[in-house]
Amino acid sequence: MGDSLIILDTQDYIVALNPAAQRLLGKDPEALVGAKLREVFDFWPSLCQAVSDGALKTVEERCELGGMRHFQIHLTPLRDPRQRPLGKVILLHDMTEQKQAAARLLEQQKALAILTERDRISRELHDGQGQIWGYFNMQLEAARSLIARNNAAGAAELLAQLAGVVRTVHAGIRESIDGLQTAAAAAGDLLQRLSEYLDWFGRNYGIRTELAVAGESLAGKLSPVTEAQLLRIVQEALANAKKHANPSRILVTVAGGAGRATITVEDDGCGFEPDPGQRNRGSYGLKIMRERAEDIGGELRVESAVGSGTRVTVSVRLE
Ligand SMILES: Nc1ncnc2c1ncn2[C@@H]1O[C@H](COP(=O)(O)OP(=O)(O)OP(=O)(O)O)[C@@H](O)[C@H]1O
Ligand SMILES: [Mg+2]
Repeated sequence: MGDSLIILDTQDYIVALNPAAQRLLGKDPEALVGAKLREVFDFWPSLCQAVSDGALKTVEERCELGGMRHFQIHLTPLRDPRQRPLGKVILLHDMTEQKQAAARLLEQQKALAILTERDRISRELHDGQGQIWGYFNMQLEAARSLIARNNAAGAAELLAQLAGVVRTVHAGIRESIDGLQTAAAAAGDLLQRLSEYLDWFGRNYGIRTELAVAGESLAGKLSPVTEAQLLRIVQEALANAKKHANPSRILVTVAGGAGRATITVEDDGCGFEPDPGQRNRGSYGLKIMRERAEDIGGELRVESAVGSGTRVTVSVRLE
């Protein structure tokens, strides 16, 4: 619908109005011309008040006119060449559809934000809590089999070790909550955190782990969010090696050069045929690793073959 135009005389009687205004009011011109504005617009007292105040203005208002509609109102006084008042012009610009479209867009943005957040929470659960429970399960199974073999002392030692981990995890829940609030919270000095994690991993799973640093230093060159994502990618690559590959050694290399940071995780385990179409239903790790890499504008490559170990490479441009 076009803009509605209504012309009034100095006493606020309607002198003329365009077809859009007639359609808006749903009446013939004969019923409108000569009528007092206040009578025709009795459903919209604030508009009548603004018109009788007479000042030039542009306002936005909502009114009930065949459903709730949103208008931008322009009021312009009409004067003769000697500046004597002749009347007023009211221009009503219907913004209802524009406002509805903006509201729909806002809703869509909110929905997208919720989905993104949900995605992030599920990744955190997979990579953080998922791995911890996997570890507990493995250790408890080991304790059970020690008990079955009457090795109570061995089982007690294992359980004491597990109790230590429970305490650490408990303390880490706070960190995990922070991690959901800001992806950056789990980050710190990447090399230090990688080295601590590799030590923990090697000790608890009995797999030899090594950390190598090559090329230019990356100190201060990666944002906390990038560091947090890289750490999670390495953690899942390590978890996969442990879970699927039965390796004797895992090497993590952090390299800077050519404006990029590159981290590789290499295991000497059984290897597998990577599925380029990623059709593995119920498997989330590789998909999440790829999404995390994309989130930070990086790339993920998985090279593997049955019998020759696996190399996961994540590479990201430096800011
Ligand atoms: N380092 C590896 N060595 C051998 N096989 C691997 C390795 N990494 C991944 N795979 C294979 O790729 C599959 C997909 O890995 P992905 O991490 O996506 O899922 P998952 O580890 O099976 O389950 P999830 O990570 O969801 O708990 C694995 O099931 C495994 O067969
Ligand atoms: Mg996995």
